[in-house]
Amino acid sequence: MVGATKGSIMSYTRLLLVSLFVTLVATPVRADKCHQCHKSREFKVTHKKLYDYNVNFEVSVHGIAELECTDCHGGDDNTDNLEIAHKGVLAPVRYDKIPETCGKCHEDQHDAFVTSHHYQLLEKDGSAPSCVTCHGSMDMDFIFATKVKSTCLFCHNHESGIFPQIPGQAEFILSKLNIIKGYKGYVETHADDKDMVRDLGDAYNKLTSRWHSFDLDGVEAETRTLLGEYRKAKAQAMKDRKKK
Ligand code: HEC
Ligand code: HEC
Ligand code: HEC
Ligand code: HEC
Ligand code: HEC
Repeated sequence: MVGATKGSIMSYTRLLLVSLFVTLVATPVRADKCHQCHKSREFKVTHKKLYDYNVNFEVSVHGIAELECTDCHGGDDNTDNLEIAHKGVLAPVRYDKIPETCGKCHEDQHDAFVTSHHYQLLEKDGSAPSCVTCHGSMDMDFIFATKVKSTCLFCHNHESGIFPQIPGQAEFILSKLNIIKGYKGYVETHADDKDMVRDLGDAYNKLTSRWHSFDLDGVEAETRTLLGEYRKAKAQAMKDRKKK
C-alpha cells in the first residue's frame, strides 16, 4: 500500500511537471505589442472574432515555432499606438501577395508553386488557390492525405467541371507519400548505409516541394519510383537490424 501511495505521488509530481512544461510551451510569453494587445481581455470583449484568430495562431505550427506577427504582417510591434502599429499589416497577406510572404521562409514550395497554372490564375483574377486556401491562414496546418481530397474538391468537382478527377489523384499520391514517410522513419533508424539514407531523404524533400508545381502526373510517376526505392531500402534495413 505504502509503495502504491509513493508511486502515485511520484507520478502525480511528474504529471504536474509535465503539465507545467506543456503550459510553458503552449503559451510562450511574447514581448511583441501586436500579440499583447490582440490577446488582452478587453480585446476579447470588443473584437471576439479577431481575438479568436490569435488563439488559433498560438496552437498552429507557426505559433509553436514562435513566429512573430510581423514575420508575415510587417507593421511595428514596438508600439501601443494602433495606427503606427497597423501601418501596412494587411498588404503582405492580400491574396496575390501571399506566395511571396510565405516564400520568404518556404522557398522550395514557393519556387515550385510559381511554375503552376494555379499561380498564374491567382495573379490574374484570384480564381485559383493561394497557399492559405489550402493550408489555412492563422490556423496554418499540415495537410494530411485524409484532408487533401476535400481541399481540392472545393473547386475540382463535377458541378464546376474543372478537372473533377484531380481530388482522387491527389489523395492517391498523398497516401503513397504517407507510406514513404513510414518507410523513411524505419530506414533512417535501422539502415547501415548512411549515404543511401541521405540521398533518399533528399529525393523525398525534393518531391514534396515539387508537389507544389501541381504537375500531378509528373509527381505521381516520381512518387511511384521513390516508393519502389524505399521498399528496397526497407528490406535491406530489416536485414541490417537482424544482424545487430
Ligand atoms: C493597441 C492595440 C493594438 C496593437 C498594438 C495592434 N493591434 Fe491590430 N488591431 C487592434 C484593433 C482594436 C483592431 C480592430 C480593427 C481596428 O479597430 O482597426 C485590430 C485589427 C488588426 C487587423 C485586422 C485589420 C483589418 O482591417 O481587418 C490586423 C491584421 C492586425 N490588427 C494586426 C496587427 C499587427 C500585426 C500588430 C503589430 C504590428 C497589431 N495588430 C498591433 C488593436 C491592436
Ligand atoms: C505565417 C504568417 C502569419 C503570421 C505569423 C501571423 N499572421 Fe495574421 N494573418 C495571416 C494571413 C495569411 C491572414 C489572412 C488574410 C486573409 O484571410 O485574406 C491573416 C489574418 C489576420 C487577421 C484578420 C484580418 C482580417 O481582416 O480579418 C488578424 C487580426 C491577424 N492576422 C493578426 C495577427 C496577429 C496578432 C499575429 C501575431 C500573433 C499574426 N496575425 C501572425 C498570416 C499570418
Ligand atoms: C518567418 C518564417 C516563416 C514564414 C513567413 C512562414 N512560415 Fe511556415 N513555417 C515556418 C516554420 C519555422 C515552421 C515550423 C516547421 C518547419 O521547420 O518547417 C513552419 C511550418 C509550416 C507548415 C507545416 C510544415 C510541416 O512540415 O509540418 C506549413 C504548411 C507552412 N509553414 C506554411 C506556411 C504558409 C502558407 C505561410 C504563409 C502564409 C508560411 N508558412 C509563412 C516558418 C515560416
Ligand atoms: C492546392 C493546395 C495547396 C496550395 C495552393 C499550397 N499547398 Fe502546400 N501543401 C499542400 C499539400 C496537400 C501538402 C502535403 C504534401 C505532403 O504530404 O508532403 C503541402 C505541403 C506543404 C508544406 C510541408 C512541406 C512539404 O513540402 O511537404 C509546406 C511548408 C507548404 N506546403 C507550404 C506551401 C506554401 C508556402 C504555399 C504557397 C507558395 C503552398 N504550400 C501552397 C497543398 C497546397
Ligand atoms: C480555389 C479553387 C481551387 C482549389 C481549392 C484547387 N484548385 Fe486546382 N485549379 C483551379 C483552377 C481554376 C484551375 C484551372 C482550370 C483550367 O485550366 O480550366 C486548376 C487547375 C489545376 C490543375 C491542372 C494544372 C495544369 O497545369 O493544367 C491541377 C493538377 C490542379 N488544379 C490540382 C489541384 C489540387 C491537387 C488541389 C488540392 C490540393 C487543387 N488543385 C485545389 C482551382 C483550384
